[in-house]
Amino acid sequence: MTAPHATGWRELLADVPREPFLPDVVWIDGPDRTFLPVSRQRDPQRWADATCGDQPVITQVDDGAPPPGQPGVVPTSSASMPTVVAGMLDALGAEAGHAVLEVGTGTGWNAALLARRVGPTGRVVSVEVDPALADTARSVLATAGANVDVITGDGERGYPDGAPYDRIIATASVRAIPFAWVQQARTGGVIVTPWGTDYCNSTLARLVVGPAGVAFGRFRDGYSFMRLRSQRRYLVNPDGTDLDTASAEHSITDLDGRDVYRMITASEAAFAIGLRLPDCRMLFEEDRRGQRHHTVELHHSSSGSWALVDVDVDRGRGFDVYQAGARRLWDEAVDAYRWWLAHDTPGVERFGITITAASQVVWLNDPASEHHWIVG
Ligand SMILES: C[S@@+](CC[C@H](N)C(=O)[O-])C[C@H]1O[C@@H](n2cnc3c(N)ncnc32)[C@H](O)[C@@H]1O
Repeated sequence: MTAPHATGWRELLADVPREPFLPDVVWIDGPDRTFLPVSRQRDPQRWADATCGDQPVITQVDDGAPPPGQPGVVPTSSASMPTVVAGMLDALGAEAGHAVLEVGTGTGWNAALLARRVGPTGRVVSVEVDPALADTARSVLATAGANVDVITGDGERGYPDGAPYDRIIATASVRAIPFAWVQQARTGGVIVTPWGTDYCNSTLARLVVGPAGVAFGRFRDGYSFMRLRSQRRYLVNPDGTDLDTASAEHSITDLDGRDVYRMITASEAAFAIGLRLPDCRMLFEEDRRGQRHHTVELHHSSSGSWALVDVDVDRGRGFDVYQAGARRLWDEAVDAYRWWLAHDTPGVERFGITITAASQVVWLNDPASEHHWIVG
């Protein structure tokens, strides 16, 4: 992600601080990948620690309904890191007088920044799917004096009543860019959205909408955003982590630790692998045995296939691979990795996307490339 630069978002972030938009209860990391609530009233110091500086703040878990008395399981709304917010706004390039659609109001902070940028001659519409979050954001934005029209609804449909828009920004990730956004943007309008496959969900797409309802753009390295609810396949991990390696097929990979690291890192090969295994979910975990020790899991839910590899990035080669189910997911991922090596190890910025009413196609280098993938 590019850092904020000359377009002045950094100054704007200082003018419109995030803190007033944050709720009284935020969520911090708890044991075993759970999330624990921290209350501003009861624990002001921890609340301040969790919300200061350049860090994301989780503002909702489990769609607002965590199991009573239990820790939260899945973050479902957050205020992003200020540098990430600035980088996305920089990519969007909203200007005074623009009409802007935001999908994913969350706390309302990003919408307030946009409202400040477009000024009194512009307008900002922000759509939030969660009614409680939308109501809170509406009232916090009003208190802050930010002129934002908050709509409760599914942002996948955009908001046709406010169209056309000069700029559209999503703050939840998609695997398919809703064509409604293309239809509701002006010709020459810009769409910025986190984009990703199930394998690699940490890139940003920036598209420009052309005259015939065709949008075209490129990717850049980004951050992992929560999925747009309407494109979410599940809330809680359906695959679990207790994989029965004893009954799985065992092999030894001939890749070395650095290769495997490249296979799971977006700015390296993971983006390209995801294009070839789009519905295969990749999870990796830094192990207690050290930061460079990863457990990599691949899952394909509908065929019940999975693969597990235990890798020490600094320890040569020869790692155990376990695979089960109809597909050999690790072998497929290694084939995709070798394709990436054989094609000059392209980074995410060498890939682009073309969207029409009929299809979404990702390509390497240019739209006419022989290397392209239908996505969505
Ligand atoms: C990362 S948070 C948004 C951060 C927000 N822009 C801010 O400044 O705080 C993502 C938000 O997208 C919302 N969301 C998810 N799916 C949505 C959908 N289909 N339509 C509208 N909002 C959605 C979530 O409820 C969540 O509040």
